[in-house]
Amino acid sequence: MTHRIHGETASDMNDSPEDGSQTAPAAGPRITIVVARARGGVIGAGNGLPWHLPEDLKHFRTTTMGHAIVMGRKTFESIGKALPGRRTIVVSRNPHWTHAGCENASSLEAAIALAAQPGPDPSISTEEVFVVGGEQLFRDAIGIAKRAIVTEIDLEVAGDAHFPELDPRQWRVHSRSEHRSARGPHYTIIDYRRD
Ligand SMILES: NC(=O)c1ccc[n+]([C@@H]2O[C@H](COP(=O)([O-])OP(=O)(O)OC[C@H]3O[C@@H](n4cnc5c(N)ncnc54)[C@H](OP(=O)(O)O)[C@@H]3O)[C@@H](O)[C@H]2O)c1
Repeated sequence: MTHRIHGETASDMNDSPEDGSQTAPAAGPRITIVVARARGGVIGAGNGLPWHLPEDLKHFRTTTMGHAIVMGRKTFESIGKALPGRRTIVVSRNPHWTHAGCENASSLEAAIALAAQPGPDPSISTEEVFVVGGEQLFRDAIGIAKRAIVTEIDLEVAGDAHFPELDPRQWRVHSRSEHRSARGPHYTIIDYRRD
């Protein structure tokens, strides 16, 4: 789909007010990772989730609702559709990739730049953008994210996609909450922040 980017042009931003003062360019959205990982950092197997944890899906929905979500093309294929109430931006090196209700970006940086501008639905926030996987996208996002909301699932599962431990010298725990799924495993939701 064709997407029109609204907002100021570069020349608008360079124009100085008549009193000669400079206005700083607006900061971009906060970049937040949302991930669920089992023991050993497993996040996926065979391009799917190797667990069924409805409570975490609900947490994901609540957390991301009203925001842009950025995902790799493979994660999108595993979901199969744009998620309601959110702006779905899919990263692919294929410039011709399209899917109804999605926007396409050629890199994580391009996806963030897109999310910083109002999209087709003006009710979607441009203040915070959620990077939601998979492994390849997380690897790129970990260096630029300021927040990571990590569900640690106390489960031993085999997998072929992983999310690393966050470096405690960089990331601090902002909040954490312990839960037990009706289906069995304990899980902990940790909200990490860094400056
Ligand atoms: N537990 C969780 O929280 C969670 C969340 C999400 C996903 N997952 C799991 O993670 C697994 C998928 O992860 P994955 O690493 O295989 O795939 P992915 O990150 O979802 O997607 C990879 C694809 O994204 C595109 N891409 C990645 N980096 C790019 C870059 N720098 N520039 C342009 N395009 C780029 C490429 O698409 P093209 O090939 O089209 O160029 C690449 O093939 C699945 O098992 C899924 O279930 C788990």
